[in-house]
Amino acid sequence: MYFHIMTLFPEMVLGGLRTSIIGRAEEKGCISIEAVNIRDYTTDKHKKVDDYTYGGGAGMLMQAQPVYDCWRALDERIAGQKTRVIYVTPQGEVFSQKKAAELSMEEDLIFLCGHYEGIDERVLDEIVTDYISIGDYVLTGGELPAMVMIDAIARLVPGVLNNGESAQTESHADGLLEYPQYSRPEVWHEKRVPDVLLSGHHANIEKWRLEQALERTRERRPDMYEAYIREHPVKPSKK
Ligand code: ADE
Repeated sequence: MYFHIMTLFPEMVLGGLRTSIIGRAEEKGCISIEAVNIRDYTTDKHKKVDDYTYGGGAGMLMQAQPVYDCWRALDERIAGQKTRVIYVTPQGEVFSQKKAAELSMEEDLIFLCGHYEGIDERVLDEIVTDYISIGDYVLTGGELPAMVMIDAIARLVPGVLNNGESAQTESHADGLLEYPQYSRPEVWHEKRVPDVLLSGHHANIEKWRLEQALERTRERRPDMYEAYIREHPVKPSKK
């Protein structure tokens, strides 16, 4: 899968994404990440990419021309069928695990990162296919949200995670938060690992994990718990 990021700060996104698991996945060739500098496409002789907003108001706006020319060059180079362009914005639909799974099916994705007070609406109208937010709060630019989304999408691409199972059992994959997990030693700060996990009895371990996942979800995310119970009406018997 190919990720293309349109940004004024390529070194920021590449620095963050070319580390750890996502960085190794790129080295292995499972995914490819490129950042294109929008400033390279401005026709302004001072390399300016922003200007005041018509009608007044605080701050500067990214202009249509460099954003459009940057996208045109990228889209022509990709030469795929209608590559989706995601504008990361607090005005978008809120990102979720479901959205990550949907987007991980694409061959190419273009992320457009805004800065300053945003981007001239006319170019957004022409090139953007999806408006996506990472939550109801405002950041100073689109780079961090793009990195968050790319991380969540990339780890669902086959081969990125070594253990294929971990993406299926983790929190949110099935509508529940993940059960608690323990590693060595068996006793730490006088706290014992639950006996069932040392029993080697797989059916009991599975049952315990489901109960824990349900309990944890009910406590921490009652909204998710309600939705899960609605879809799985037979409540497992409580001990
Ligand atoms: N840009 C600024 N804030 C954002 C947010 N919450 N989500 C996506 N893009 C943003």
